[in-house]
Amino acid sequence: MTFVPYDRPVRAAFIGLGRIYDLNVRAYLGNPDVEVVALVDPDEERRAQRQADWPAAAAFASAAELASSGIQVDAAEVLLPAPLHADGVVEMLGYGWHLNMQKPMCNDLSEAQRMLHAAKTSGRILRVMENYMFYDPLRKLKAAVESGEIGDVCGYHMKMTGSGLGGWDVPWSSFEWQLEQMRRGRGILVFDDGWHKLATALWLFGPVREVRAWIGNTAVGPGVNLDAPVTIAWEHDNGIRGVWDITLAMDMYLRSDYYTNDERWEITGSKGYARVNRCTGRGIQQPSLEVYADGVMRGYHALDDDWASSFRDSGRHWLNWLHTGDGPLSWGAEEAVDVLRFALAAYASSASGGIGVNPAQCG
Ligand SMILES: NC(=O)c1ccc[n+]([C@@H]2O[C@H](COP(=O)([O-])OP(=O)(O)OC[C@H]3O[C@@H](n4cnc5c(N)ncnc54)[C@H](O)[C@@H]3O)[C@@H](O)[C@H]2O)c1
Repeated sequence: MTFVPYDRPVRAAFIGLGRIYDLNVRAYLGNPDVEVVALVDPDEERRAQRQADWPAAAAFASAAELASSGIQVDAAEVLLPAPLHADGVVEMLGYGWHLNMQKPMCNDLSEAQRMLHAAKTSGRILRVMENYMFYDPLRKLKAAVESGEIGDVCGYHMKMTGSGLGGWDVPWSSFEWQLEQMRRGRGILVFDDGWHKLATALWLFGPVREVRAWIGNTAVGPGVNLDAPVTIAWEHDNGIRGVWDITLAMDMYLRSDYYTNDERWEITGSKGYARVNRCTGRGIQQPSLEVYADGVMRGYHALDDDWASSFRDSGRHWLNWLHTGDGPLSWGAEEAVDVLRFALAAYASSASGGIGVNPAQCG
């Protein structure tokens, strides 16, 4: 595919103006790389609310209406409910737009193939945004590990606790499509939010050759089930092993400006360890990154550890990429398929009682 970088501001549209728009928009506000020309959402109230940010943008109830309006769009920020991703992305690539879409890319490999095919035939770029790779404490964690500061990596652990109290309001309509996903076996913890954890594992230590999983189910209300407790373990091609546990603590208050998710990453090396203490929520109120080696603990007190900044920086990276075409997309669609395969391997393993599954052989 030949991509021709833009030598003028990119004309962009937001497709989906719901909860996560509040964070994705941070990359666009005050950014001379972009001109927001259109807003799309079937919900009139959402359109009216977001129009305040972009008075000059035209608003539409559907992407099809925008496409037939005559307004020129170079790239779209796709913030659709996950069940609409595959069809929506294929449709919008067909309009000739480059796309920066939210995770999870899609639910299975046949949908992924359709999306990759549509990107190829349209000659447009499909990016699956992975904002965690732009979270400053995680970037510094990776750098600390790669510097050799903690010695050779011996293994690592990721942790997520979903709590029921605290955080921002999430509209019931967002939960509705999450429940639909859950019924299809693509739960909010492992597959939706968990997509990021699997992505960080691949980003930190490369391809995975074996996954073993035990994925539970907990009823938290009438007709409402969550995919916890969960334990997933895996081995990378380089021999490093990781383990990730997900726990529910419904009555625990968690201070958070966003979702109530208490997260940690801890990498153990032959001489010490490095740990990111929090991300989305403000669970541990210590420095967001701590690195211990040779009897000395170093705390990083001045990182940009507001989770929202990772959306800003990931989005800016995309908009800048459209001007240069240089460097990794972080991530392109092919890399997102690796994340999907990782998740599918976990589901296959859990369904078979925890046996080892190679993600490359899924599907
Ligand atoms: N990166 C992250 O950490 C992160 C966090 C939260 C959500 N997300 C992802 O962002 C996406 C959106 O999530 P959300 O929480 O904002 O959902 P949401 O339900 O709050 O918002 C979705 C919006 O899309 C609109 N919509 C529905 N059908 C549409 C259509 N055909 N065309 C245009 N708009 C349509 C809805 O009216 C709604 O306003 C999901 O894929 C979700 O997984 C990512």
